Amino acid sequence: MDLYLLLFLLFPCVSSKPNVIIFIADDLGYGDLGCYGNTSVRTPNIDSIAREGVKMTQHLTAASTCTPSRSAFLTGRYPVRTGMAATGLMRVNTWPYSSCGLPSSEVTFAEQTKKAGYMNGFIGKWHLGLHKDTLGDFEHHPLNQGFDYFYGLIGTNLDDFGHETKVITSQRPYWYGELFSIWAVTAVSLWCLYRANYIRVFSFVVFVFIWSVPVTFVYILFENYTLLSSFIHRNYDLVEQPIRLAGLSQRLVNEGLEFIQNATAAEKPFLLVMSWVHMHVFLRTAKEFEGRSKFGRYGDALEELDWSVGKILKAVRKYGLEDNTLVYFTSDNGGHLEIGTDGGYNGILKGGKTHGSPDGGIRVPGMIKWPSVLNEGKVIDEPTSLMDIYNLISTAVGVELPSDRQIDGRDILPLLKGDVSVSPHEFMFHYCGNRLKAARYRPRDGSKTWKLVTHEPDLIPGSKVCTFVCSCNFDVALTTPKLYDMTSDLGESNPIDANSNTYKEISSIILQAIDNHKNSVEPVETQFTWKKLAPKLTWQPCCNGRFPFKCLCTDPKYPE
Ligand SMILES: *[C@@H]1O[C@H](CO)[C@@H](O)[C@H](O)[C@H]1NC(C)=O
Repeated sequence: MDLYLLLFLLFPCVSSKPNVIIFIADDLGYGDLGCYGNTSVRTPNIDSIAREGVKMTQHLTAASTCTPSRSAFLTGRYPVRTGMAATGLMRVNTWPYSSCGLPSSEVTFAEQTKKAGYMNGFIGKWHLGLHKDTLGDFEHHPLNQGFDYFYGLIGTNLDDFGHETKVITSQRPYWYGELFSIWAVTAVSLWCLYRANYIRVFSFVVFVFIWSVPVTFVYILFENYTLLSSFIHRNYDLVEQPIRLAGLSQRLVNEGLEFIQNATAAEKPFLLVMSWVHMHVFLRTAKEFEGRSKFGRYGDALEELDWSVGKILKAVRKYGLEDNTLVYFTSDNGGHLEIGTDGGYNGILKGGKTHGSPDGGIRVPGMIKWPSVLNEGKVIDEPTSLMDIYNLISTAVGVELPSDRQIDGRDILPLLKGDVSVSPHEFMFHYCGNRLKAARYRPRDGSKTWKLVTHEPDLIPGSKVCTFVCSCNFDVALTTPKLYDMTSDLGESNPIDANSNTYKEISSIILQAIDNHKNSVEPVETQFTWKKLAPKLTWQPCCNGRFPFKCLCTDPKYPE
Protein backbone atom coordinates (compact mmCIF):
# COMPACT_ATOMS: atom_id res chain seq x y z
CA MET A 1 0.00 0.00 0.00
CA ASP A 2 2.73 2.39 0.99
CA LEU A 3 4.57 1.64 -2.21
CA TYR A 4 1.52 2.54 -4.29
CA LEU A 5 1.14 5.74 -2.37
CA LEU A 6 4.78 6.54 -2.95
CA LEU A 7 4.49 5.83 -6.67
CA PHE A 8 1.36 7.89 -6.85
CA LEU A 9 3.10 10.79 -5.17
CA LEU A 10 6.25 10.45 -7.25
CA PHE A 11 4.66 9.89 -10.62
CA PRO A 12 3.51 13.41 -11.34
CA CYS A 13 6.93 14.81 -10.42
CA VAL A 14 8.92 12.34 -12.44
CA SER A 15 6.82 12.47 -15.54
CA SER A 16 5.80 16.10 -15.45
CA LYS A 17 7.16 18.12 -18.29
CA PRO A 18 9.61 20.89 -17.49
CA ASN A 19 8.66 24.49 -18.04
CA VAL A 20 11.04 26.48 -20.19
CA ILE A 21 11.82 30.15 -19.67
CA ILE A 22 14.11 31.92 -22.08
CA PHE A 23 15.56 35.33 -21.40
CA ILE A 24 17.15 36.84 -24.47
CA ALA A 25 18.68 40.28 -24.14
CA ASP A 26 19.43 42.57 -27.06
CA ASP A 27 23.03 43.63 -27.81
CA LEU A 28 24.24 42.67 -24.33
CA GLY A 29 28.04 42.26 -24.37
CA TYR A 30 30.21 39.41 -23.13
CA GLY A 31 31.71 41.65 -20.43
CA ASP A 32 28.52 43.27 -19.19
CA LEU A 33 27.55 40.88 -16.39
CA GLY A 34 28.88 40.27 -12.93
CA CYS A 35 29.00 36.51 -13.57
CA TYR A 36 31.20 37.15 -16.63
CA GLY A 37 33.77 39.01 -14.60
CA ASN A 38 32.40 42.53 -14.53
CA THR A 39 33.15 43.83 -11.07
CA SER A 40 31.43 47.19 -11.35
CA VAL A 41 27.89 46.42 -12.54
CA ARG A 42 25.11 45.08 -10.36
CA THR A 43 23.38 42.10 -11.96
CA PRO A 44 22.65 39.81 -8.98
CA ASN A 45 19.50 38.23 -10.44
CA ILE A 46 21.06 37.37 -13.78
CA ASP A 47 24.19 36.16 -11.97
CA SER A 48 22.05 33.82 -9.88
CA ILE A 49 21.25 31.78 -13.01
CA ALA A 50 24.98 31.12 -13.49
CA ARG A 51 25.50 30.41 -9.80
CA GLU A 52 22.59 27.98 -9.57
CA GLY A 53 23.20 26.42 -12.96
CA VAL A 54 25.71 26.11 -15.76
CA LYS A 55 27.66 28.97 -17.29
CA MET A 56 28.99 28.66 -20.83
CA THR A 57 32.01 30.84 -21.58
CA GLN A 58 32.23 30.09 -25.29
CA HIS A 59 28.59 30.49 -26.24
CA LEU A 60 28.14 31.63 -29.84
CA THR A 61 25.42 33.20 -31.92
CA ALA A 62 24.99 32.37 -35.60
CA ALA A 63 25.26 36.03 -36.64
CA SER A 64 26.36 39.36 -35.19
CA THR A 65 23.02 41.12 -35.77
CA CYS A 66 19.51 40.59 -34.46
CA THR A 67 17.34 39.25 -37.28
CA PRO A 68 19.59 36.44 -38.54
CA SER A 69 20.82 35.54 -35.06
CA ARG A 70 17.27 35.27 -33.72
CA SER A 71 16.13 33.23 -36.71
CA ALA A 72 18.91 30.71 -36.06
CA PHE A 73 18.09 30.64 -32.37
CA LEU A 74 14.42 29.83 -32.97
CA THR A 75 15.05 27.23 -35.66
CA GLY A 76 18.40 25.69 -34.70
CA ARG A 77 19.60 26.33 -38.24
CA TYR A 78 22.21 28.61 -39.80
CA PRO A 79 20.48 31.57 -41.48
CA VAL A 80 21.92 30.51 -44.88
CA ARG A 81 19.68 27.46 -44.71
CA THR A 82 16.47 29.37 -44.01
CA GLY A 83 16.77 32.42 -46.28
CA MET A 84 17.49 34.67 -43.29
CA ALA A 85 21.07 35.46 -44.33
CA ALA A 86 21.40 38.75 -46.18
CA THR A 87 22.80 38.74 -49.67
CA GLY A 88 23.52 42.47 -49.70
CA LEU A 89 24.02 45.46 -47.45
CA MET A 90 20.88 45.30 -45.31
CA ARG A 91 21.21 42.47 -42.79
CA VAL A 92 18.20 43.10 -40.58
CA ASN A 93 14.50 43.54 -41.14
CA THR A 94 14.44 47.32 -40.97
CA TRP A 95 10.72 47.93 -41.58
CA PRO A 96 8.28 45.90 -39.50
CA TYR A 97 5.72 46.04 -42.30
CA SER A 98 7.96 44.79 -45.09
CA SER A 99 7.44 41.27 -46.41
CA CYS A 100 10.80 39.92 -45.18
CA GLY A 101 10.49 37.42 -42.35
CA LEU A 102 11.10 33.96 -40.96
CA PRO A 103 9.42 31.52 -43.38
CA SER A 104 6.54 29.70 -41.74
CA SER A 105 7.84 26.45 -43.22
CA GLU A 106 10.60 26.57 -40.59
CA VAL A 107 9.91 24.60 -37.43
CA THR A 108 10.63 26.84 -34.43
CA PHE A 109 11.30 25.48 -30.96
CA ALA A 110 7.84 26.74 -30.05
CA GLU A 111 6.38 24.46 -32.71
CA GLN A 112 8.41 21.69 -31.13
CA THR A 113 7.02 22.26 -27.62
CA LYS A 114 3.53 22.66 -29.13
CA LYS A 115 3.75 19.01 -30.22
CA ALA A 116 4.19 18.15 -26.53
CA GLY A 117 1.10 20.12 -25.52
CA TYR A 118 2.86 23.21 -24.23
CA MET A 119 1.41 26.66 -23.84
CA ASN A 120 3.83 29.04 -25.56
CA GLY A 121 4.26 32.75 -24.92
CA PHE A 122 6.47 35.32 -26.62
CA ILE A 123 6.89 38.66 -24.85
CA GLY A 124 9.08 41.46 -26.21
CA LYS A 125 11.06 42.03 -29.35
CA TRP A 126 10.33 39.75 -32.32
CA HIS A 127 12.15 41.30 -35.31
CA LEU A 128 11.36 38.37 -37.62
CA GLY A 129 8.64 39.84 -39.82
CA LEU A 130 4.87 40.24 -39.92
CA HIS A 131 3.04 39.72 -43.24
CA LYS A 132 4.23 37.90 -46.34
CA ASP A 133 1.99 38.34 -49.38
CA THR A 134 -1.00 40.35 -48.26
CA LEU A 135 -1.93 42.72 -45.50
CA GLY A 136 -3.32 40.62 -42.69
CA ASP A 137 -1.87 37.22 -43.63
CA PHE A 138 0.37 37.39 -40.50
CA GLU A 139 2.55 34.72 -42.09
CA HIS A 140 5.68 35.72 -40.14
CA HIS A 141 3.87 36.69 -36.92
CA PRO A 142 4.80 34.86 -33.67
CA LEU A 143 1.30 33.33 -33.47
CA ASN A 144 1.99 31.68 -36.82
CA GLN A 145 5.35 30.34 -35.61
CA GLY A 146 4.20 28.23 -32.69
CA PHE A 147 3.32 30.81 -30.04
CA ASP A 148 -0.10 31.06 -28.38
CA TYR A 149 0.38 34.49 -26.92
CA PHE A 150 2.31 37.52 -28.10
CA TYR A 151 2.86 40.93 -26.60
CA GLY A 152 5.60 43.13 -27.94
CA LEU A 153 7.41 44.71 -30.82
CA ILE A 154 7.19 43.23 -34.30
CA GLY A 155 10.27 45.23 -35.26
CA THR A 156 13.15 46.50 -33.19
CA ASN A 157 13.79 49.23 -30.69
CA LEU A 158 15.77 52.13 -32.12
CA ASP A 159 17.38 55.35 -30.96
CA ASP A 160 14.69 57.26 -32.86
CA PHE A 161 12.05 56.01 -30.42
CA GLY A 162 13.72 58.10 -27.73
CA HIS A 163 12.90 61.21 -29.78
CA GLU A 164 16.38 62.58 -29.25
CA THR A 165 18.42 61.17 -32.10
CA LYS A 166 17.55 59.88 -35.53
CA VAL A 167 19.82 56.93 -35.90
CA ILE A 168 19.84 56.50 -39.63
CA THR A 169 19.72 60.07 -40.78
CA SER A 170 22.34 60.96 -38.18
CA GLN A 171 24.68 58.66 -40.08
CA ARG A 172 24.18 60.91 -43.12
CA PRO A 173 24.26 64.34 -41.55
CA TYR A 174 24.39 65.97 -44.99
CA TRP A 175 21.10 64.52 -46.13
CA TYR A 176 19.52 67.94 -45.92
CA GLY A 177 22.28 69.41 -48.12
CA GLU A 178 22.13 66.51 -50.54
CA LEU A 179 18.40 66.80 -50.94
CA PHE A 180 18.54 70.55 -51.19
CA SER A 181 21.20 70.35 -53.92
CA ILE A 182 19.13 67.89 -55.90
CA TRP A 183 16.05 70.04 -55.72
CA ALA A 184 18.05 73.21 -56.41
CA VAL A 185 19.58 71.67 -59.51
CA THR A 186 16.12 70.61 -60.56
CA ALA A 187 14.75 74.11 -60.09
CA VAL A 188 17.63 75.78 -61.94
CA SER A 189 17.34 73.30 -64.76
CA LEU A 190 13.63 73.87 -65.01
CA TRP A 191 14.31 77.56 -65.25
CA CYS A 192 16.84 76.99 -68.06
CA LEU A 193 14.37 74.79 -69.81
CA TYR A 194 11.76 77.48 -69.57
CA ARG A 195 14.15 80.09 -71.01
CA ALA A 196 15.81 78.05 -73.73
CA ASN A 197 13.21 75.52 -74.65
CA TYR A 198 16.12 73.13 -75.13
CA ILE A 199 15.60 69.40 -75.41
CA ARG A 200 18.91 68.33 -73.81
CA VAL A 201 18.28 70.38 -70.70
CA PHE A 202 14.85 68.91 -70.59
CA SER A 203 16.28 65.37 -70.51
CA PHE A 204 18.68 66.39 -67.77
CA VAL A 205 15.88 67.73 -65.63
CA VAL A 206 13.87 64.62 -66.14
CA PHE A 207 16.90 62.55 -65.15
CA VAL A 208 17.54 64.55 -61.98
CA PHE A 209 13.90 64.54 -61.11
CA ILE A 210 13.60 60.79 -61.47
CA TRP A 211 16.50 60.36 -59.05
CA SER A 212 15.27 62.85 -56.56
CA VAL A 213 11.95 61.11 -56.03
CA PRO A 214 13.23 57.87 -54.44
CA VAL A 215 15.89 59.78 -52.52
CA THR A 216 13.27 62.09 -51.05
CA PHE A 217 11.02 59.14 -50.32
CA VAL A 218 13.72 57.25 -48.44
CA TYR A 219 14.63 60.40 -46.56
CA ILE A 220 11.05 60.99 -45.47
CA LEU A 221 10.77 57.36 -44.33
CA PHE A 222 13.84 57.50 -42.14
CA GLU A 223 12.94 60.90 -40.75
CA ASN A 224 9.61 59.43 -39.64
CA TYR A 225 10.88 56.13 -38.30
CA THR A 226 9.06 56.54 -35.00
CA LEU A 227 5.68 57.24 -36.59
CA LEU A 228 6.17 54.31 -38.96
CA SER A 229 7.73 51.65 -36.76
CA SER A 230 7.13 52.31 -33.08
CA PHE A 231 4.20 50.15 -32.01
CA ILE A 232 3.20 47.24 -29.83
CA HIS A 233 0.91 44.35 -30.68
CA ARG A 234 -0.99 42.09 -28.35
CA ASN A 235 -1.51 38.98 -30.44
CA TYR A 236 -2.80 40.40 -33.75
CA ASP A 237 -4.02 43.69 -32.33
CA LEU A 238 -2.18 46.96 -32.45
CA VAL A 239 -2.44 48.25 -28.87
CA GLU A 240 0.13 51.00 -28.49
CA GLN A 241 1.55 53.58 -30.87
CA PRO A 242 4.09 55.03 -30.49
CA ILE A 243 5.78 52.90 -27.82
CA ARG A 244 6.19 54.51 -24.40
CA LEU A 245 9.70 53.35 -23.63
CA ALA A 246 9.65 54.44 -20.00
CA GLY A 247 7.89 51.61 -18.18
CA LEU A 248 8.14 49.19 -21.10
CA SER A 249 10.26 46.74 -19.08
CA GLN A 250 7.60 46.81 -16.35
CA ARG A 251 4.87 46.06 -18.89
CA LEU A 252 6.90 43.19 -20.36
CA VAL A 253 7.42 41.80 -16.86
CA ASN A 254 3.73 42.10 -16.10
CA GLU A 255 2.83 40.27 -19.31
CA GLY A 256 5.34 37.53 -18.45
CA LEU A 257 3.93 37.14 -14.93
CA GLU A 258 0.37 36.95 -16.23
CA PHE A 259 1.40 34.35 -18.75
CA ILE A 260 2.97 32.15 -16.05
CA GLN A 261 -0.13 32.59 -13.90
CA ASN A 262 -2.44 31.60 -16.78
CA ALA A 263 -0.36 28.57 -17.74
CA THR A 264 -0.24 27.47 -14.11
CA ALA A 265 -3.98 27.95 -13.72
CA ALA A 266 -4.54 25.93 -16.91
CA GLU A 267 -2.21 23.24 -15.47
CA LYS A 268 -0.20 23.25 -18.64
CA PRO A 269 3.56 23.08 -19.06
CA PHE A 270 4.75 26.27 -20.66
CA LEU A 271 7.44 27.84 -22.80
CA LEU A 272 7.93 31.52 -22.15
CA VAL A 273 10.32 33.65 -24.20
CA MET A 274 11.13 36.99 -22.59
CA SER A 275 12.81 38.81 -25.44
CA TRP A 276 13.95 41.99 -23.71
CA VAL A 277 14.11 45.30 -25.49
CA HIS A 278 17.16 46.21 -23.38
CA MET A 279 20.15 46.72 -24.10
CA HIS A 280 19.37 48.13 -27.54
CA VAL A 281 19.30 51.90 -27.80
CA PHE A 282 17.17 53.89 -27.06
CA LEU A 283 17.90 53.02 -23.43
CA ARG A 284 14.95 54.49 -21.59
CA THR A 285 14.08 53.09 -18.17
CA ALA A 286 11.38 53.69 -15.60
CA LYS A 287 11.98 56.71 -13.35
CA GLU A 288 13.22 54.67 -10.42
CA PHE A 289 16.15 53.30 -12.47
CA GLU A 290 17.31 56.64 -13.85
CA GLY A 291 20.76 57.56 -12.59
CA ARG A 292 21.03 54.46 -10.41
CA SER A 293 24.11 52.90 -11.96
CA LYS A 294 27.67 54.04 -12.50
CA PHE A 295 27.38 53.68 -16.26
CA GLY A 296 24.87 56.24 -17.44
CA ARG A 297 21.72 55.17 -19.20
CA TYR A 298 23.37 51.94 -20.34
CA GLY A 299 24.05 50.89 -16.75
CA ASP A 300 20.57 52.03 -15.66
CA ALA A 301 18.99 49.88 -18.37
CA LEU A 302 21.19 46.95 -17.32
CA GLU A 303 19.99 47.25 -13.73
CA GLU A 304 16.40 47.42 -14.94
CA LEU A 305 17.01 44.33 -17.06
CA ASP A 306 18.39 42.54 -14.00
CA TRP A 307 15.37 43.63 -11.94
CA SER A 308 13.06 42.31 -14.70
CA VAL A 309 14.76 38.91 -14.74
CA GLY A 310 14.53 38.83 -10.94
CA LYS A 311 10.76 39.41 -11.01
CA ILE A 312 10.19 36.44 -13.31
CA LEU A 313 12.53 34.17 -11.32
CA LYS A 314 10.71 35.10 -8.16
CA ALA A 315 7.35 34.18 -9.66
CA VAL A 316 8.74 30.78 -10.69
CA ARG A 317 9.74 30.19 -7.08
CA LYS A 318 6.42 31.47 -5.80
CA TYR A 319 4.49 28.94 -7.87
CA GLY A 320 6.84 26.19 -6.68
CA LEU A 321 8.01 25.54 -10.23
CA GLU A 322 11.70 26.20 -9.72
CA ASP A 323 12.94 22.61 -9.63
CA ASN A 324 11.51 21.54 -12.93
CA THR A 325 11.89 24.78 -14.88
CA LEU A 326 14.67 25.17 -17.38
CA VAL A 327 15.81 28.79 -17.29
CA TYR A 328 18.14 30.06 -19.98
CA PHE A 329 19.71 33.47 -20.36
CA THR A 330 21.54 34.84 -23.40
CA SER A 331 21.96 37.78 -25.78
CA ASP A 332 21.27 37.91 -29.54
CA ASN A 333 24.69 39.39 -30.34
CA GLY A 334 27.53 41.32 -28.72
CA GLY A 335 27.72 44.95 -27.67
CA HIS A 336 27.54 47.71 -30.28
CA LEU A 337 30.97 49.35 -30.04
CA GLU A 338 30.30 52.08 -32.59
CA ILE A 339 27.83 53.85 -30.33
CA GLY A 340 30.28 54.11 -27.44
CA THR A 341 29.08 54.02 -23.85
CA ASP A 342 25.49 53.33 -24.95
CA GLY A 343 26.62 50.19 -26.68
CA GLY A 344 27.73 47.69 -24.08
CA TYR A 345 31.01 46.11 -23.22
CA ASN A 346 32.50 43.00 -24.82
CA GLY A 347 35.29 42.66 -22.28
CA ILE A 348 38.51 41.21 -23.61
CA LEU A 349 36.95 40.14 -26.91
CA LYS A 350 37.78 41.79 -30.23
CA GLY A 351 35.04 43.52 -32.24
CA GLY A 352 31.30 43.73 -31.65
CA LYS A 353 27.81 43.77 -33.10
CA THR A 354 27.68 43.74 -36.94
CA HIS A 355 31.39 42.85 -37.26
CA GLY A 356 31.68 39.76 -39.41
CA SER A 357 34.37 37.53 -37.96
CA PRO A 358 35.67 38.60 -34.52
CA ASP A 359 34.24 37.03 -31.36
CA GLY A 360 32.94 40.29 -29.84
CA GLY A 361 29.89 40.22 -32.12
CA ILE A 362 29.03 36.56 -31.67
CA ARG A 363 30.32 35.37 -28.29
CA VAL A 364 27.71 36.16 -25.67
CA PRO A 365 26.69 35.25 -22.14
CA GLY A 366 24.86 31.93 -21.92
CA MET A 367 23.63 30.31 -18.69
CA ILE A 368 21.22 27.47 -18.00
CA LYS A 369 19.61 26.61 -14.71
CA TRP A 370 17.50 23.49 -14.38
CA PRO A 371 17.76 22.30 -10.77
CA SER A 372 16.20 18.86 -11.20
CA VAL A 373 18.68 17.96 -13.95
CA LEU A 374 21.80 20.16 -13.80
CA ASN A 375 24.30 20.73 -11.03
CA GLU A 376 24.95 24.12 -9.58
CA GLY A 377 27.90 26.30 -10.43
CA LYS A 378 29.32 24.36 -13.37
CA VAL A 379 31.38 26.31 -15.92
CA ILE A 380 31.74 25.04 -19.49
CA ASP A 381 34.51 26.50 -21.63
CA GLU A 382 33.77 24.31 -24.64
CA PRO A 383 32.21 25.92 -27.75
CA THR A 384 28.42 25.86 -27.67
CA SER A 385 25.84 27.63 -29.81
CA LEU A 386 22.54 29.41 -29.22
CA MET A 387 21.23 26.97 -31.83
CA ASP A 388 21.85 24.12 -29.35
CA ILE A 389 18.95 25.40 -27.25
CA TYR A 390 16.67 24.13 -30.00
CA ASN A 391 17.91 20.58 -29.40
CA LEU A 392 17.93 21.03 -25.63
CA ILE A 393 14.30 22.17 -25.55
CA SER A 394 13.24 19.36 -27.89
CA THR A 395 14.93 16.79 -25.65
CA ALA A 396 13.59 18.35 -22.46
CA VAL A 397 9.98 18.21 -23.65
CA GLY A 398 10.44 14.81 -25.33
CA VAL A 399 9.89 15.71 -28.98
CA GLU A 400 12.05 14.40 -31.81
CA LEU A 401 13.96 16.79 -34.04
CA PRO A 402 12.48 17.41 -37.49
CA SER A 403 14.02 14.77 -39.75
CA ASP A 404 13.42 16.44 -43.10
CA ARG A 405 15.99 19.20 -42.67
CA GLN A 406 19.48 19.93 -41.43
CA ILE A 407 19.53 21.07 -37.80
CA ASP A 408 22.79 22.81 -36.88
CA GLY A 409 22.21 22.78 -33.13
CA ARG A 410 23.72 19.85 -31.22
CA ASP A 411 22.72 17.92 -28.13
CA ILE A 412 24.64 19.65 -25.34
CA LEU A 413 22.78 17.99 -22.48
CA PRO A 414 25.55 15.44 -21.79
CA LEU A 415 28.06 18.30 -21.76
CA LEU A 416 25.88 20.36 -19.41
CA LYS A 417 25.48 17.38 -17.09
CA GLY A 418 29.18 16.63 -17.14
CA ASP A 419 28.76 13.20 -18.75
CA VAL A 420 31.12 14.22 -21.56
CA SER A 421 33.79 16.89 -21.57
CA VAL A 422 34.15 17.73 -25.26
CA SER A 423 31.76 19.93 -27.22
CA PRO A 424 29.54 18.12 -29.72
CA HIS A 425 30.55 20.80 -32.25
CA GLU A 426 33.69 19.80 -34.08
CA PHE A 427 33.28 22.78 -36.40
CA MET A 428 31.30 26.01 -36.21
CA PHE A 429 30.89 28.53 -38.99
CA HIS A 430 30.84 32.28 -38.54
CA TYR A 431 28.89 34.27 -41.08
CA CYS A 432 28.23 37.85 -41.99
CA GLY A 433 25.04 37.77 -44.06
CA ASN A 434 25.37 34.82 -46.42
CA ARG A 435 29.15 35.06 -46.55
CA LEU A 436 31.40 32.90 -44.41
CA LYS A 437 34.08 34.89 -42.59
CA ALA A 438 35.61 32.48 -40.09
CA ALA A 439 35.29 28.96 -38.71
CA ARG A 440 35.98 27.27 -35.40
CA TYR A 441 37.51 23.87 -34.86
CA ARG A 442 37.41 21.84 -31.68
CA PRO A 443 39.50 18.71 -32.27
CA ARG A 444 38.02 15.61 -30.63
CA ASP A 445 41.14 15.20 -28.49
CA GLY A 446 43.24 17.71 -26.59
CA SER A 447 41.73 20.82 -25.18
CA LYS A 448 42.30 23.64 -27.66
CA THR A 449 39.73 25.39 -29.81
CA TRP A 450 41.02 26.96 -33.03
CA LYS A 451 39.53 29.72 -35.11
CA LEU A 452 40.47 30.45 -38.69
CA VAL A 453 39.60 33.94 -39.89
CA THR A 454 39.35 34.43 -43.65
CA HIS A 455 37.93 37.98 -43.67
CA GLU A 456 38.25 40.95 -41.35
CA PRO A 457 35.90 43.92 -41.01
CA ASP A 458 36.86 47.10 -42.82
CA LEU A 459 37.59 49.19 -39.73
CA ILE A 460 38.29 52.92 -39.70
CA PRO A 461 42.11 53.02 -40.01
CA GLY A 462 43.76 53.26 -36.61
CA SER A 463 40.56 52.39 -34.75
CA LYS A 464 38.74 49.26 -33.59
CA VAL A 465 35.38 50.17 -35.06
CA CYS A 466 33.52 50.93 -38.29
CA THR A 467 31.52 54.14 -38.80
CA PHE A 468 28.15 53.02 -37.47
CA VAL A 469 27.92 49.39 -38.49
CA CYS A 470 30.39 47.15 -40.30
CA SER A 471 29.15 45.95 -43.64
CA CYS A 472 30.16 42.49 -44.77
CA ASN A 473 30.26 43.84 -48.32
CA PHE A 474 33.44 45.76 -47.56
CA ASP A 475 35.20 43.14 -45.46
CA VAL A 476 38.86 42.61 -46.18
CA ALA A 477 39.63 39.15 -47.59
CA LEU A 478 42.89 37.90 -46.07
CA THR A 479 45.32 36.39 -48.56
CA THR A 480 46.63 34.24 -45.72
CA PRO A 481 43.80 33.48 -43.29
CA LYS A 482 44.66 34.07 -39.63
CA LEU A 483 44.60 31.21 -37.16
CA TYR A 484 43.98 31.83 -33.46
CA ASP A 485 44.09 29.58 -30.43
CA MET A 486 40.81 30.61 -28.79
CA THR A 487 41.73 28.76 -25.60
CA SER A 488 44.59 31.07 -24.68
CA ASP A 489 44.04 34.06 -26.99
CA LEU A 490 40.47 35.24 -26.35
CA GLY A 491 41.17 38.68 -27.76
CA GLU A 492 42.35 37.27 -31.13
CA SER A 493 45.57 39.24 -30.93
CA ASN A 494 48.30 36.62 -31.55
CA PRO A 495 47.77 34.78 -34.81
CA ILE A 496 49.66 31.51 -35.12
CA ASP A 497 52.75 31.79 -37.34
CA ALA A 498 51.55 30.95 -40.84
CA ASN A 499 54.77 29.07 -41.57
CA SER A 500 54.44 26.75 -38.61
CA ASN A 501 53.40 23.13 -38.94
CA THR A 502 50.52 23.74 -36.56
CA TYR A 503 49.15 26.42 -38.91
CA LYS A 504 49.46 24.20 -41.96
CA GLU A 505 47.88 21.22 -40.31
CA ILE A 506 45.01 23.00 -38.55
CA SER A 507 44.16 25.48 -41.30
CA SER A 508 43.92 22.78 -43.94
CA ILE A 509 41.52 20.79 -41.74
CA ILE A 510 39.37 23.88 -41.24
CA LEU A 511 39.42 24.89 -44.91
CA GLN A 512 38.29 21.40 -45.82
CA ALA A 513 35.46 21.62 -43.26
CA ILE A 514 34.41 24.98 -44.72
CA ASP A 515 34.22 23.35 -48.15
CA ASN A 516 32.13 20.47 -46.84
CA HIS A 517 29.86 22.84 -44.99
CA LYS A 518 29.32 25.04 -48.05
CA ASN A 519 28.42 21.95 -50.05
CA SER A 520 25.86 20.99 -47.43
CA VAL A 521 23.95 24.27 -47.83
CA GLU A 522 21.05 23.88 -50.21
CA PRO A 523 19.92 26.91 -52.20
CA VAL A 524 16.95 28.64 -50.62
CA GLU A 525 14.78 31.65 -51.42
CA THR A 526 16.33 34.65 -49.70
CA GLN A 527 14.22 36.95 -47.55
CA PHE A 528 16.66 39.77 -48.19
CA THR A 529 15.76 41.03 -51.64
CA TRP A 530 15.16 44.78 -51.92
CA LYS A 531 11.60 44.02 -52.87
CA LYS A 532 10.97 42.06 -49.68
CA LEU A 533 12.89 44.50 -47.49
CA ALA A 534 11.15 47.61 -48.80
CA PRO A 535 8.48 49.11 -46.55
CA LYS A 536 4.98 48.59 -47.85
CA LEU A 537 3.13 51.73 -46.93
CA THR A 538 -0.27 50.16 -47.54
CA TRP A 539 0.60 47.65 -44.79
CA GLN A 540 1.52 50.40 -42.38
CA PRO A 541 -0.15 49.79 -39.01
CA CYS A 542 -2.00 52.83 -37.74
CA CYS A 543 -4.20 52.81 -34.65
CA ASN A 544 -7.08 54.70 -36.17
CA GLY A 545 -6.65 53.26 -39.66
CA ARG A 546 -6.09 56.67 -41.23
CA PHE A 547 -2.34 56.67 -41.77
CA PRO A 548 -0.47 59.03 -41.48
CA PHE A 549 -2.88 61.06 -39.36
CA LYS A 550 -2.92 60.69 -35.60
CA CYS A 551 -1.65 57.12 -35.41
CA LEU A 552 -1.73 57.34 -31.65
CA CYS A 553 -3.07 54.96 -29.05
CA THR A 554 -2.48 53.86 -25.52
CA ASP A 555 -3.17 50.32 -24.40
CA PRO A 556 -6.25 50.53 -22.11
CA LYS A 557 -4.63 47.80 -20.02
CA TYR A 558 -1.75 50.18 -19.25
CA PRO A 559 -3.26 53.64 -19.24
CA GLU A 560 -0.42 55.24 -17.29
C1 LIG B 1 31.32 46.66 -16.70
O1 LIG B 1 30.27 47.00 -17.60
C2 LIG B 1 30.19 48.38 -17.88
C3 LIG B 1 28.89 48.62 -18.63
O2 LIG B 1 28.89 48.08 -19.92
C4 LIG B 1 31.44 48.81 -18.59
O3 LIG B 1 31.37 50.17 -18.93
C5 LIG B 1 32.65 48.54 -17.69
O4 LIG B 1 33.83 48.84 -18.37
C6 LIG B 1 32.67 47.09 -17.21
N1 LIG B 1 33.67 46.99 -16.17
C7 LIG B 1 34.45 45.93 -15.96
C8 LIG B 1 35.37 46.02 -14.81
O5 LIG B 1 34.45 44.96 -16.68
